[in-house]
Amino acid sequence: MEQRKISAMPPAEVEKQKEYINLARTVLSARFSDRAPKAFVHTYGCQGNVADSERMKGLLQACGYVFCDSAEEADFVLFNTCAVREHAEDRVFGNCGALKPVKEKNPDMIIALCGCMMQQQHVAERIKKSYPFVNLVFGTFAFHRLPELLYKVLTGRKRVFATEETDGAIAEGLPVFRDRDVKAWLPVMYGCDNFCSYCIVPYVRGRERSRKSEAILSEAKELIAGGAKEITLLGQNVNSYGKGLAEDIDFPRLLRKLNALEGDFIIRFMTSHPKDCTKELLDAMAECKKCARHLHLPVQSGNNRILKEMNRRYTREHYISLIEYARSVMPDLSLTTDIITGFPGETYEEFCDTVSLVREINYTSMFTFIYSPRKGTKAATMPDPVPYAEKSKWMRELLAVQEEIAAKRTASMIGQTYRVLVEDETREKDGYLTGRTQGNVNIDFAGDKSLVGTFCDVKVTSAGNWVVHGELVQ
Ligand code: 5AD
Ligand code: SF4
Repeated sequence: MEQRKISAMPPAEVEKQKEYINLARTVLSARFSDRAPKAFVHTYGCQGNVADSERMKGLLQACGYVFCDSAEEADFVLFNTCAVREHAEDRVFGNCGALKPVKEKNPDMIIALCGCMMQQQHVAERIKKSYPFVNLVFGTFAFHRLPELLYKVLTGRKRVFATEETDGAIAEGLPVFRDRDVKAWLPVMYGCDNFCSYCIVPYVRGRERSRKSEAILSEAKELIAGGAKEITLLGQNVNSYGKGLAEDIDFPRLLRKLNALEGDFIIRFMTSHPKDCTKELLDAMAECKKCARHLHLPVQSGNNRILKEMNRRYTREHYISLIEYARSVMPDLSLTTDIITGFPGETYEEFCDTVSLVREINYTSMFTFIYSPRKGTKAATMPDPVPYAEKSKWMRELLAVQEEIAAKRTASMIGQTYRVLVEDETREKDGYLTGRTQGNVNIDFAGDKSLVGTFCDVKVTSAGNWVVHGELVQ
């Protein structure tokens, strides 16, 4: 097999960006002599994008920006985009179009678009042609180059486009601006090699590459010291963690190392692929007391023909056997999943296999999507005769089943006590807090706001479909 490249970026490249931070800072402080320049960063899509935005915000802050909550008041607007479904792309085009009149009022405003959508050349071309007021476009391979690209925009007259694909080397040691202290995102690997036939991710995020465990552990320590109580490890396919690294490591071993760090915190991770979800991983989860009893394991479909067409490389039977094993070593395990309905050529009978699987597994919750054709993927070329309205009907049927299952599950929680991470005050009711069980179920209860960011024992007193209500156990 071909030896993969080690994916750490040469330190000289990282240093170059630090120099650009200083240069951009100088230009901005001359331009904004009486106030700090303001940036508005809006993120579409998954947690991976949220984590990337935190890194880009770190770079912007180092350049001298402070953050604001709307494009109207911003000097720099950045949309970090998502390409996974057409709907997400339409929202970006719509919201970007809405910036035109805002920029007419404030011609000095810089508008930048980045991320997965921009990594597709046909999208970058469309922005070039039809959105002339956009100053900067860069793809997923250029996130760390934001200081350099910003400097070019600030000092040149031309629009800047950086959408070429590189080897995707990972930049370490650049600043991060965290949106929250208590719940933190920690990327462990980037990219995806799986090429599920419907998915654009391998095309816009490139090949899998892992961060060195040393970098991950030192970031985790920083997060814990900064008050993080929940750390979610992120990757398109975390089970592939470690492949191609010089060190001898894999995901179960990484979990054990993180679990051994001192402090009271919980570890989550997403996303796992069932084809790579091994017994070793499930054993490691069971062994690691800090690992949440929650597994997000996207099944996508319960029908073997569709799974094959999706290029998922596992069967319904294999998936079920994995879940059986996981539950045998973690009886209290909560499971969540992703499902696509209306994959090209899927029949109603095949869809019914997904419904029966959902019943069999008894998921805590699931993310459901109607298939969306993505240009350049294999599935986009497959005959797709079922009308969208029919697919929506199937989706409603699936959601009704899940609601029924969720209601039963939450009802079974009544009377039990859970250790809950208190996330926030509830918006609806004064004096109430909202938290999450390890199994990822939302729970509301009366309590003082000083408890936010701590773990509390809460006894469930009543249940709705998705949220349960409880009271503090003193
Ligand atoms: N259409 C619909 N859903 C998709 N997903 C990925 N690609 C598509 C697509 N083309 C879903 C999958 C994946 C989740 C993140 O998004 O369920 O697990
Ligand atoms: Fe897409 Fe499949 Fe990779 Fe997930 S594992 S990002 S669904 S190609």
